[in-house]
Amino acid sequence: MTTDTSLLDVRGLQTAFHTEAGAWLAVDGVDLTVARGEIVGLVGESGSGKSVTGFSLLGLIDPPGEVVGGQVLFNGTDLRSLDEESLRKLRGDRIAMIFQDPLMTLNPVLRVKEQMMEAILTHHPRTPRRDAEARCLEALAMVGIPAPEKRLDNYPHEFSGGMRQRVAIAIAMLNHPELIIADEPTTALDVTIQGQILYQMQKLCRQNDTAMIWITHDLGVVAELADKVAVMYAGRIVEYGPVSEVLAAPRHPYTQGLLQSMPGAAVPGSRLNQIDGMAPTLTGREAGCTFRPRCPHAGPECARAVPDRTDAGERYFRCYRPIALAQEQA
Ligand SMILES: Nc1ncnc2c1ncn2[C@@H]1O[C@H](COP(=O)(O)OP(=O)(O)OP(=O)(O)O)[C@@H](O)[C@H]1O
Ligand SMILES: [Mg+2]
Repeated sequence: MTTDTSLLDVRGLQTAFHTEAGAWLAVDGVDLTVARGEIVGLVGESGSGKSVTGFSLLGLIDPPGEVVGGQVLFNGTDLRSLDEESLRKLRGDRIAMIFQDPLMTLNPVLRVKEQMMEAILTHHPRTPRRDAEARCLEALAMVGIPAPEKRLDNYPHEFSGGMRQRVAIAIAMLNHPELIIADEPTTALDVTIQGQILYQMQKLCRQNDTAMIWITHDLGVVAELADKVAVMYAGRIVEYGPVSEVLAAPRHPYTQGLLQSMPGAAVPGSRLNQIDGMAPTLTGREAGCTFRPRCPHAGPECARAVPDRTDAGERYFRCYRPIALAQEQA
């Protein structure tokens, strides 16, 4: 639900890709609220539209893609109404993005120090160099880079994959953003390093009151890290709410399927591994609920139209036949 404390309030976001077969909505009516300092996990299988959502929020969709509908209210201002120059001022300053591949942030031919200094001075040109340098060192130390004063003069290739991602995270944190959009920043790393970085980012967000949208296909990561979860399926958020509530008692059958496919989630009688069936493709989208062909609960009403949002407290879901809560079954 929209509240006055929302830092980010996304309403009905739609992003199309124009193809020879016509315009196709990769993001189709996303509603997402992020409060100040809150961590929201955006989870869903490959191709569900998580990255396109992240890029759309920042106005980073290039042709043949286009944001075609909705609002992206950041502190009450619709980012869609801003020109490129104003957006550029926000990006890397009040809103930062961290990508799966740190080399999307890091320039391979520049020393880390130059890149970090530039990240500060572009947005805050009057910062004294000495202060900016101190902030670079502090940021590297914060993300757990040992002996940062020795590493500032290194080039990105002189860091290991995990350390390089830490540098990218340090750059994202440099200007104390209000919001970070992190697109699978740890999936390429080994599990131990992934855990360390997750923990560190959560701590940094808490310390700095930074909000974060954490994009992942791993519900385990969401359970560890996030306050809220938004479950995405075929371009829509099908379920949203506080992590503890959604994971304990999912309302949408897709969320339940994701939970049951988690390693270690073996519930007697439930199937492990993948949810049956395929996500809808460009041409394969039918009328009604897009999850219907794979849904164990589907009934005739599910074929009629896309389910509207059902709001219940802080949660919402889009399903005609939601899983009953325990008290409803009693
Ligand atoms: N430049 C593009 N042109 C056409 N279609 C695109 C483009 N970029 C993304 N798409 C389509 O938009 C849909 C959503 O893609 P997106 O990258 O957001 O998925 P995702 O949820 O981030 O998946 P993953 O977990 O694999 O990263 C996909 O079907 C994808 O093929
Ligand atoms: Mg992606």
